[in-house]
Amino acid sequence: MSLAITNIGSLVTNDQNLGFGLLGEIENAAVVIEDGKVAWVGNSNSAPEADQVINAQGMGVIPGFVDSHAHMVFAGDRSKEFEARMNGEKYSAGGIKSTVAKTRAASDSELEANFLSLQNEMIRSGITTFESKSGYGLSVHDEARSLAIAAKHTSETTFLGAHVVPEDYAGKADDYVALVTGEMMDACAPHAKWVDVFCDVGAFDVDQSREVLKAGIAKGLMPRIHANQLAAGGGVQLAVELDCASADHCTHLSDSDIDALAGSATVATLLPGAEFSTRATYPNARRLFAAGATVALATDCNPGSSYTTSMSFCIAVAIRDMGFSPEQALWSATMGGAKALRRSDVGALSVGMTADLVVLSAPSFRHLGYRPGVDQISQVLKSGKTIYKHQDGIK
Ligand code: NIG
Ligand code: FE
Repeated sequence: MSLAITNIGSLVTNDQNLGFGLLGEIENAAVVIEDGKVAWVGNSNSAPEADQVINAQGMGVIPGFVDSHAHMVFAGDRSKEFEARMNGEKYSAGGIKSTVAKTRAASDSELEANFLSLQNEMIRSGITTFESKSGYGLSVHDEARSLAIAAKHTSETTFLGAHVVPEDYAGKADDYVALVTGEMMDACAPHAKWVDVFCDVGAFDVDQSREVLKAGIAKGLMPRIHANQLAAGGGVQLAVELDCASADHCTHLSDSDIDALAGSATVATLLPGAEFSTRATYPNARRLFAAGATVALATDCNPGSSYTTSMSFCIAVAIRDMGFSPEQALWSATMGGAKALRRSDVGALSVGMTADLVVLSAPSFRHLGYRPGVDQISQVLKSGKTIYKHQDGIK
């Protein structure tokens, strides 16, 4: 069964051989999908026949967003903490502990229902691939069940037992690191693809972080890291040292951090929702682009620092406040995310790629930043199948 999407006003392929600019954009384009993969891309007038046709009516089509950083297994919310911050309080890693208490008290089915509700929001936001971390259980049992729940719904699962030192280990950080690298790692590794650590003020220092990531690597997990969010520090350098797929947040970067990222395969993943919701100063992505670093954008969906599932919102903030061009922002939210997850099958719409794509209710990707806060997602396809249709969108 083949499907053609025709009459696309602007198609983002993310393949510069197929179209113009960074995004390999084609106007008046068509895409043909067979067996869940892109089988043909080109001018709509020369599209081959297909069994089914979606007429995009001149609207834009982009690759599905790849959200490489989210925390979706938790219970409760922290709206009062957000309110206090907007009234002048400072964000600190300590708030994580209140979500830990609520998560531990929740049943598996409550955690899964919350996860699925966030997953549905993501799909409606055009996200077709997402990562999810543990990190609000912080006991062997609660971390393992968090990951088992996430693994039912995504292959991109990340063990974040080293999120903060929990209350029950207060003053005994080294004992907690021993638990994370020992019994907790053994219980969690079977459900995880990645290992992560929050390397920052109020969480784990560089040596503790190295220990956690190396223990994960020894168990066959691939490393990624929360680095340089709350303060400048050695997190980014550690990411490069251990060939982490991604260093996430990167709010405070020195010139040598930027040089290290640019000379490595580690993606700098920026999280506009976190600076927005913690009223922090935005990092300047132009420094990263100028140095030649690879940059991703992700939602960081979590109840504390960034409770959003909207990639369009992140794109708008990245363009307005972080120095991204509209093209760079779209690339970072699609291909950049794929690179941050070391995936070569998603993030682009060239022949052979998985047919994960979004039909917009706007003529091109440019409208995502241009019309902030407006829902412009008309249809979402995953592996060529429609998984979401806006009631007012393209039929
Ligand atoms: O990525 N920075 C560490 N972890 C999360 C926030 C966790 C929380 O505040 O609950 C983040 O922003
Ligand atoms: Fe995070």
